[in-house]
Amino acid sequence: MSYELTIEPIGQTIEVEEGQTILDAALRAGVWLPHACCHGLCATCKVQVIDGEVDHGEASSFALMDFERDEGKTLACCARLESDVTIEAEIEEEADAESIPVRDFPGTVTRIEALTPTIKAVFIETDEPMHFQAGQYINLFLEGGEYSRAFSLANPPSTGREVELNIRIVPGGRGTTWIHEQLKVGERVRLSGPYGRFFVRKSAPEALLFMAGGSGLSSPRSMILDLLEAGDTRPMTLVYGQRNRGELYYHDAFLALAAKYPNFSYVPALSDEPADSGWDGFRGYVLDAATAHFDNDFRGHKAYLCGPPLMIDACITALMQGRLFERDIFMEKFFSAADVQQVRSPLFKRI
Ligand SMILES: Cc1cc2nc3c(=O)[nH]c(=O)nc-3n(C[C@H](O)[C@H](O)[C@H](O)COP(=O)(O)OP(=O)(O)OC[C@H]3O[C@@H](n4cnc5c(N)ncnc54)[C@H](O)[C@@H]3O)c2cc1C
Ligand code: FES
Repeated sequence: MSYELTIEPIGQTIEVEEGQTILDAALRAGVWLPHACCHGLCATCKVQVIDGEVDHGEASSFALMDFERDEGKTLACCARLESDVTIEAEIEEEADAESIPVRDFPGTVTRIEALTPTIKAVFIETDEPMHFQAGQYINLFLEGGEYSRAFSLANPPSTGREVELNIRIVPGGRGTTWIHEQLKVGERVRLSGPYGRFFVRKSAPEALLFMAGGSGLSSPRSMILDLLEAGDTRPMTLVYGQRNRGELYYHDAFLALAAKYPNFSYVPALSDEPADSGWDGFRGYVLDAATAHFDNDFRGHKAYLCGPPLMIDACITALMQGRLFERDIFMEKFFSAADVQQVRSPLFKRI
């Protein structure tokens, strides 16, 4: 059983299987719709139903409010069709975006390494190579495929079939607890992807500023390695925040990159490092480190932010105070169920 979905304003019609979400069907058909969390939490994928019936599924009441449901809005990542449907979506053309249809990739866990006490690197060799743009993410199916969680790809696209995910354990979190405590090398898993529009605008001439917190280092790492491998000579700066030295993973690797490439600068910041530890780098949050490093003037940059939603909102405010415009800021928010009640930044139409 399947229904037809027509997507306006492009006028394309695609098949949607029973139980399949609008977003999943569109991305697999190569039609890009805005999305971020893929789990009904962030409201990025809100679309207008012009004709037909949908089931709103597990859309959170914060991301899709009652009055919006009454107005015919729905979240494409949760909505399933109950008839043939026509929707209207905001589809913006992006010069540097590649259109890569989402597919399923079965694979085998080849390595699991503890990067810090709370973050593990999980390496998965996919049976077939997955093409993606540095900065994108995948959905990893957990506990035998029962449910999925989003994780950014930490390796550059050139790596080949082995993808790397950096996964922070969330206290009380179902998926990350299972990954940290149960997932084993040799296990067969499935992932789908690539998702998201967090990628470097390579045609833009500006210098690049990457700001990351916690396991949000994944996407910037992939982007930076990709750019340096390609011989990109634009100035690029990574400002990376963690709580303490024990959590500051890939620190030596970034120091080595900064020593090797004159156009790459690395600014680590620790917010909760003991005063007597001997740490001689910046003490404070990512946004404070960036503000100090650039003397509160970010003009001439494109900024790429990745990490928890609260960190990103704080960084956006700091960047705009430092005279960077909305059009120059790109971000990937690591939404989780804990962010359900978070109000989105009033500074941005979409995340
Ligand atoms: C695009 C994207 C990319 C991401 N990339 C990464 C990455 O590279 N690395 C990484 O570590 N993480 C990443 N994340 C976050 C990741 O997808 C998970 O959301 C996160 O790891 C938590 O998953 P979990 O199953 O362990 O927690 P969940 O079980 O989903 O719960 C998360 C937290 O919310 C609490 N909670 C659960 N239900 C509720 C509720 N109803 N109300 C309030 N609180 C609740 C839980 O107690 C827990 O603290 C990314 C997220 C997105 C959207
Ligand atoms: S992508 Fe649908 S609510 Fe986040």
